[in-house]
Amino acid sequence: MSLRIAFFASHGGSNMQAIIDAIKSGEIDAVAALVISNNSESGAIERAKTEGIPFSHISSKTHPDERERIMAMIEKLDECKIDLIILAGYMKKIPSQIIEHVGGRVLNIHPALLPKFGGEGMYGMNVHKAVIESGETLSGATVHLVDSEYDRGRILMQKEAPVLADDTPETLAARVLVAEHSLYKETLKKIISGEIII
Ligand code: GRF
Repeated sequence: MSLRIAFFASHGGSNMQAIIDAIKSGEIDAVAALVISNNSESGAIERAKTEGIPFSHISSKTHPDERERIMAMIEKLDECKIDLIILAGYMKKIPSQIIEHVGGRVLNIHPALLPKFGGEGMYGMNVHKAVIESGETLSGATVHLVDSEYDRGRILMQKEAPVLADDTPETLAARVLVAEHSLYKETLKKIISGEIII
């Protein structure tokens, strides 16, 4: 039976879209079954509407009480029979109850080669700025399992991208994002084929 995926996303959702496209073309045997966003105006929700994927806006605005917010997420995950959660630019910490609810099957993508350049505050352009300032000549992307600490779960796969001498955080981010799209798909395929066990 095909793996049923929920995407959690806060912004544009280009990683989510890359995976959805691969599902649609038959490259990945899975079902894009749910999109959860904490941002009602996110590109991710727009993409879910366009693709006809069930979506839900769950945030501290819709559910000010944390327990109720977590319960609302769990209800949606159950309703859509979710096997795996994919974080795709989700800017909130995932509650441990959610991780436990899906048996630890929560993936994240980070725009650097972890364990370097990870942890609290290391997101978006902050990551690429730090990489450039450190003088590294190699960056890339990492797909890892999510646990209770930021960017510390088991690393599943990485893909390198060069840092060029004249890079700005923006040009580096654009290069890494291309690597992210193929890396997320590759990792998912290996999970589905059983080559990577989570
Ligand atoms: C990506 O760089 C990802 O690594 C980070 O947030 C960004 C999301 O981009 N976690 P998108 O929303 O998938 O376009």
